[in-house]
Amino acid sequence: MAILKIVEYPDPFLTLKAKPVEVIDDEILELIKDMADTMFDAPGVGLAAPQVRSDKRIIVYNPTARSSKNRDCENGETQEQDSSENESKNDYRAIINPEIIAASGSLISENEACLSVPDYSADVKRFSKVTVKGLNPEGKKIQFDADDIQAVILQHEIDHLNGVLYIDRISLLKRNIYKKRVTKKAKES
Ligand code: NI
Repeated sequence: MAILKIVEYPDPFLTLKAKPVEVIDDEILELIKDMADTMFDAPGVGLAAPQVRSDKRIIVYNPTARSSKNRDCENGETQEQDSSENESKNDYRAIINPEIIAASGSLISENEACLSVPDYSADVKRFSKVTVKGLNPEGKKIQFDADDIQAVILQHEIDHLNGVLYIDRISLLKRNIYKKRVTKKAKES
């Protein structure tokens, strides 16, 4: 078990586009495990490889996160268990080279947050339903639909692989308020 250090805004690494995984070797499988450990330790409901300074297109997330009240993407606290799919609280799903191949509907993801954007949250407009394809850690092709908070988590994490943070999807005014706060904090320390 290894807890990795989470890269925080405004680190430029978070703006880079991650690269597709060509071979799923032991190094990749270890990275996935460490990402899951890091996500549960945080605690969060999703994590993308660039957040732990890896340029690989990999995401991990909690497929049982079902909060309707608190949609915090990575800081969800109230999570109901979907026992039909997952027994353990620390179950996670990893997707290698994930891609959104269809998206529809819209919702407001309330108080979306990110482990790489500390002490902030904002409402973000997201698709309410997505179809995602990619590879599982065994290298098998997977494709599935997700809606509501699960769709939000997937959009948020896949955005990370493209160098996009949720604060890139809020108004310039709100983003500048957060930027100013970060700059002020950096000056103080
Ligand atoms: Ni995030």
